[in-house]
Amino acid sequence: MLLENILQQKNSKCFVFIYVIFFLVLSVCANAGNKSKKHKVPGYAVASAHPLATAAGIKVLASGGNAFDAAVAVSSVLAVVEPYSSGMGGGGLWLLYHAKSGKTIMVDGREKAPAQATRNMYLDKQGQLIKGLSINGVLSAGIPGQVAALVHIAKKYGKLPLSKSMQASIRLAENGFRIDPIYIRLANFRLKSLQNSTESKKILLDNGKVPAPGYLLRQRQLANTLRLISRQGHKGFYQGSVARKLVDAVRSAGGIWTLEDLKNYKIVERQPIVFQYRGIKVTSASLPSSGGIVLAEIFNMLEILSPAKQKKAHLIIEAMRFAYRDRARYLGDADFVKVAVKKLISKQYAKSLTQKINPSRATPSSSLTNSVSGSATTKQESRHTTHFSIIDNTGNRVAATLTINYPFGSGFIAKGTGILLNDEMDDFSSKPGSPNAYGLVGAEANAIAANKRPLSSMSPTFLETADRIAVLGTPGGSRIITMVMNAIFGFEQNLDAKQIVAKKRYHHQYLPDVVQYETGALTVQEIDSLQKKGHKLKQIQGGYGNMQIIIWDKQKKTIEAASDPRGIGAAKVSVNQ
Ligand code: GLY
Repeated sequence: MLLENILQQKNSKCFVFIYVIFFLVLSVCANAGNKSKKHKVPGYAVASAHPLATAAGIKVLASGGNAFDAAVAVSSVLAVVEPYSSGMGGGGLWLLYHAKSGKTIMVDGREKAPAQATRNMYLDKQGQLIKGLSINGVLSAGIPGQVAALVHIAKKYGKLPLSKSMQASIRLAENGFRIDPIYIRLANFRLKSLQNSTESKKILLDNGKVPAPGYLLRQRQLANTLRLISRQGHKGFYQGSVARKLVDAVRSAGGIWTLEDLKNYKIVERQPIVFQYRGIKVTSASLPSSGGIVLAEIFNMLEILSPAKQKKAHLIIEAMRFAYRDRARYLGDADFVKVAVKKLISKQYAKSLTQKINPSRATPSSSLTNSVSGSATTKQESRHTTHFSIIDNTGNRVAATLTINYPFGSGFIAKGTGILLNDEMDDFSSKPGSPNAYGLVGAEANAIAANKRPLSSMSPTFLETADRIAVLGTPGGSRIITMVMNAIFGFEQNLDAKQIVAKKRYHHQYLPDVVQYETGALTVQEIDSLQKKGHKLKQIQGGYGNMQIIIWDKQKKTIEAASDPRGIGAAKVSVNQ
């Protein structure tokens, strides 16, 4: 009897054990099934600001590379064919979704202030800004982060060696490519600055003049540097002969870079900002970009305000005003200043802001307490910085916004390297209350300090609902954030990719206290109603921005990509056979 019981117990234990194992195996299989289902994308796609960059990305994907390899290819080709927007002498933010781990990461390859940078380096003895010093020439250049970011992405997430993913960029730098109309317009815009640099004059101009349409631009020194990076990785740029040439050139032109600055440069993997807006999960850039925080504030306010159609534009403008005011007051490099990010992106905080918004009157920015004082300008050149979006057929995604800041950055090419230096130092608030090139004002949080990263507006973004995923972003300085906002409205309305990038835009950034709008962004009735509420409006001629978007619809099993009609970019989709 006793033996029987024991046997029965043993059997039942054994049975329970087998039962548990069986269900464990079953759930692992089910999970694996779900995962592969979750990651099954109907193809792959690239959207970028230049057809040659898109072609390079597609080629890498077609030859077995993943989205991260394609990101390296697209970034390095853009560095060659859009020297007015981004480059190895600049930086950027690469927002990655790694399908295998389910993780979203922001690779922060933002430039850093050199160790010898000081708070008042752009002020004269009277404490006034020295005009142009933070925009033109070597003193305006931060320590570049793009090369470090690309090497990191390739090594940690890619499948291909740099020699493969950078192949197209090396070829295009060596053999040349035909310049586009934007190149010509921006070279005219920055002509003086390019002429002031012996190397830029030789390489980027034609006998010191803006090249004619169709000009074949060859950058052989840049090709050599790219080749070195592709062989030696990080060291090929931050140490050795390239580093020495960069520092020599900068110092002999009156700059403050050192070999230590380059050697010490490191990218940082950061957690992006994530928030929910009416069933859409928004993932966007975290500090040192203001993008994600400002977007979260705007959408948290709008969720509470729930604007009816006739009040919509007014309340959106007020939400932008209050969010950009926080940008100016509180935001800066979180490795240097304490920023209450959790609070700023909370629904509770948004509620307190909405209580200050008058539903029928514009709030004069000057009336806001603790305002950052200062005047600002609406004048800004919108064709700088660049963006690309990528998705591969395993579900990996990249949204990346890259910049050398102002068109053609500082205008300075370091002799023997072909590297055009950024002028990202202008993104610091050189003098609290004084506007930078985008009319943005800032405060203490974004003051210059050695090794600090300047505050950015770059907003590479992912949008997700149960059915759809979007990968997007745009250049455009301070207006980047509200362009992404506008795209989120389009996504919410179920617009397709082409409609979203073409959607007309309007923008308010707290200071200057002006609503900037593209023709057609606001109806005649809306303009009239806004003016009656006390808003000042300014129409922008010719449009702004250059959005690149990919949308994967899981229900419809479709993938679409679109490049902004305001630019010359290309979007390509390849559907699984
Ligand atoms: N340089 C433009 C930005 O980072 O926002």
